[in-house]
Amino acid sequence: MKFNHPMIRVISSGKYAPPTLITNEDLEKLVETSDEWITTRTGIKTRHKATDELTSDMAVKAALNAIERVNYDASKIDLIIMATITGDQSTPSTANFIQAKLGLVHEVMSFDINAACTGFVYGLEVAASMLQTGRFRAALVIGAETLTKVVDYTDRNTCVLFGDGAGAVIIEPSTLDRHQAYFFNAAKGDLHNTLTVVNKIKMDGKKVYQFAVDAMEQAIRKVLEDAALSPEDIDIIIPHQANERIIQSVSKSMGIPMEKFMLNLSEYGNTSAASIPLTISEYFDQNDTKNKKILLVGFGGGFTWGSAILQL
Ligand code: ACO
Repeated sequence: MKFNHPMIRVISSGKYAPPTLITNEDLEKLVETSDEWITTRTGIKTRHKATDELTSDMAVKAALNAIERVNYDASKIDLIIMATITGDQSTPSTANFIQAKLGLVHEVMSFDINAACTGFVYGLEVAASMLQTGRFRAALVIGAETLTKVVDYTDRNTCVLFGDGAGAVIIEPSTLDRHQAYFFNAAKGDLHNTLTVVNKIKMDGKKVYQFAVDAMEQAIRKVLEDAALSPEDIDIIIPHQANERIIQSVSKSMGIPMEKFMLNLSEYGNTSAASIPLTISEYFDQNDTKNKKILLVGFGGGFTWGSAILQL
């Protein structure tokens, strides 16, 4: 079946991470673990921790970073989609708080999405589809998490993995074919028990790992096929930053060199829905992004997984 591919222009991207760091040495004092184990099994060295900031506060800082990067007229934003599993409270949505804190008093549709670590890719597909209708002028899509408030610091299987942060992008509808965007998103609810947050994060790391490698491969293949592109046509792959070994497995089995994957998990750990937009923002910081093709790929609790190709 032929899809209608939305045409979107990525206007800007921003990030924020709180200044306090949790190092592997800090964790050695809390649980039976070592810097050597954490580094070799995950690639993670530090994670950021919010002390008194809410998820919406970090999201607003990432959004302002995106707005200020291009001196954007924020009154054009009429859609805010916030991906998070650690929102400020159940209701109102964290997106509503973000709208208020940004001072956007004009008519804006704002809501949250929960698809765990795939949330940002889900949010981007929803935003792109909504922009395609012509009803909206610009969307602010954010992923932000304060995972450290749901991490069980007595469980060495999970506490070494997660951190806090935020990333945001601003997108507008485009009429140019070269701005076609491609998406693949899916869920598998029968695997809901592999990763849950009731009060604290509980995870069957081995099951997540096995599923993640297959899911990432499938998502990369699907979106490339839809766009009729090969990995060589892609300038950078921005994967969900969960574990370096997962990305190495995907790289090896698909024959895509590791240099194609942008990694920053050694600094941030796994920031769930924030990890992909935070990395996009660092890509914008470090590169001339004009005419670049970027492939995003994520997986997370739910089970959810998904991918996108954006042409900048
Ligand atoms: N320090 C020292 N030893 C540890 C630690 C630790 N921090 N954590 C676990 N171990 C031990 C285990 O208890 C086990 O000991 P045992 O053999 O005596 O039982 C041993 O190390 C090996 O455990 P494994 O689970 O086999 O370790 P593995 O190499 O698979 O790595 C890990 C575990 C890092 C959790 C890996 O499975 C993983 O990354 N899974 C994916 C996690 C993930 O990405 N989750 C996020 C999903 S996204 C979202 O939605 C939030």
